[in-house]
Amino acid sequence: MGRAALRIRLLGGAVLAATAVAGVLTLGAGTATRPLYKDASQPVPKRVADLLARMTLAEKVWQMTQVDKGFLSADADITKYRLGSLLSGGGSVPVPNEPAAWVAMTDAYQRAALKTRLGIPLIYGIDAVHGHNNVIGATIFPHNIGLGVTRDAALVRKIGRATAEEVAGTGIRWTFAPCVCVARNIRWGRTYESFSDEPKVASALGAAYVAGFQGPKLGGSPTSILATAKHYVADGGTDKGVNTGDASLSDKQVRSIYLPPFTAAVKQGVGSVMTSFSSIQGEKMHASTHWVTDVLKGELGFKGFVISDWAGVAQIDGDGSLYSFEDVDKGIDAGIDMVMVPQAYQLFQAVLTNEIQKGHIKRSRIDDAVRRILTVKFQLGLFEHPFADRAATKTIGSKAHRALARQAVRESLVLLKNAGHVLPLKKGQRIFVAGKNADDVGAQSGGWTITWQGSTGPITPGTSILQGLKQVAGKGARIDYSLDGRGAKGHDVAIAVLGEGPYAESNGDRPDDYGLNLDAADDVVISNLRKAHIPIVVVLVSGRPLVVTRELPSLKALVAAWLPGTEGAGVADVLFGRVKPTGKLARVWPRSAAQAALAPGEPGALFPYGFGLSYR
Ligand code: GLC
Repeated sequence: MGRAALRIRLLGGAVLAATAVAGVLTLGAGTATRPLYKDASQPVPKRVADLLARMTLAEKVWQMTQVDKGFLSADADITKYRLGSLLSGGGSVPVPNEPAAWVAMTDAYQRAALKTRLGIPLIYGIDAVHGHNNVIGATIFPHNIGLGVTRDAALVRKIGRATAEEVAGTGIRWTFAPCVCVARNIRWGRTYESFSDEPKVASALGAAYVAGFQGPKLGGSPTSILATAKHYVADGGTDKGVNTGDASLSDKQVRSIYLPPFTAAVKQGVGSVMTSFSSIQGEKMHASTHWVTDVLKGELGFKGFVISDWAGVAQIDGDGSLYSFEDVDKGIDAGIDMVMVPQAYQLFQAVLTNEIQKGHIKRSRIDDAVRRILTVKFQLGLFEHPFADRAATKTIGSKAHRALARQAVRESLVLLKNAGHVLPLKKGQRIFVAGKNADDVGAQSGGWTITWQGSTGPITPGTSILQGLKQVAGKGARIDYSLDGRGAKGHDVAIAVLGEGPYAESNGDRPDDYGLNLDAADDVVISNLRKAHIPIVVVLVSGRPLVVTRELPSLKALVAAWLPGTEGAGVADVLFGRVKPTGKLARVWPRSAAQAALAPGEPGALFPYGFGLSYR
């Protein structure tokens, strides 16, 4: 039987719209033309209750389903299935990848969603983890490893706000950020996504980022975007720093090291939390009722919704199957509210529906999940403002945002050595620049930039470190460059910009000790520069501390620049002394690979937590 829509007019002019669909009779109040849930003057809980009561099981299941836009069989599936959420995974971009195309794409998706029976708007998520980093032309800020060095919560909040404006300007109102992970082993490929190996720093800066993204109140402005505290919990504490691995941690260790940043984010009002691929004592976080429901939702009182990681529910039983009944039962029962499928969405929906109809998953759990999702959508104002905020579109890559990013770069640098006060550079010096990361915006931005893994080269408008040096040195300055360091003879000082190329997630794992050293190309640069018998300053562009103990004696100065993003001139500001270095290490710098998991405060580090020099 199709839909039998019955309208009953009751005394007093109030109209109850009763819709009987597949035997599901729902009742809600409202006006003759507009149901209560569409009335923005009503309190959110009432709007949620009214809408939930009108929804069929199928509509509820689709609200819990998130699909990557690149895996849509047809855009019409959004309307056909009444999809609740889409995402752009790393690199899942429109062609051309420019703001206007993003706006056109997301608005079209939203129009498709609003055509559905109940007109529930989509919520679109993206990894804006250091600026709106999927979008060419967006401002790319330093990754969290550099922001942690600043200890500057006000700065991080401003960065969150600027990023939110750029994200909302493309019609997206949700970022899968901040990563509030505490990376305790630099072998981990996501070390650069961690503010610090100290929970208190990750807590303070994670909460500040949430405040920046969401604003004082979620949905308080058209550029307020939903933040996501991730990855819950202890993703940075796995054995040997293996990404998505197992953490042999006690409950006490998890609570003292890895949980505090989530407590702080929840206290700040974060609207979503993403579960981690990793496990603790063999229990997958995507299936942990203890950590997700009892602790996060129970003890911490988290009222937002829990989103899975990319196909994280499908990996619960570890048999490589896509969405077995067991996977879905465990994931949803653990407390996951929305599933980032993100490909086989028809399969996922069929399995979940089957498990509910069979009574393996309680309908009360489904209603709780959908209630949480709808609450955030109403709070965010999506029902009233479902489309791109075009006033914010022009902020993308703006001068103001780039100036903020440049300030963040300056504050994120750490001066680790400065023998003979070789820094700051002096005007008029003959400067020789070398190294693979000296003139490369892609390298200095790192992973999660334009594509998932990032890439070297001029991938997006920005200023390389070499370009920045030339800008700050001014006209008439003598600055020469070679990739391998040959040709330095006759100059007053050499600046070698070395370190790592871009990577993301497991591609950044370094299980082998040599992976933590400078690579062969960098050693060649240092060797060539040493032949010139001039002072050598190394600037390290990397997603983690690298083992430089062997090379250190031959360097006059060493500066950690981490992954500064598009505004490389911030590095030049410090090297030329326009501003003094203020950064203090937010993680231990190991003397050797054997110290990859050295905890803050443990003795023997090459440079201890909190170390950082400045100029006279
Ligand atoms: C990835 C990451 C997560 C990201 C998600 C969506 O696998 O683990 O941090 O938010 O997928 O791109």
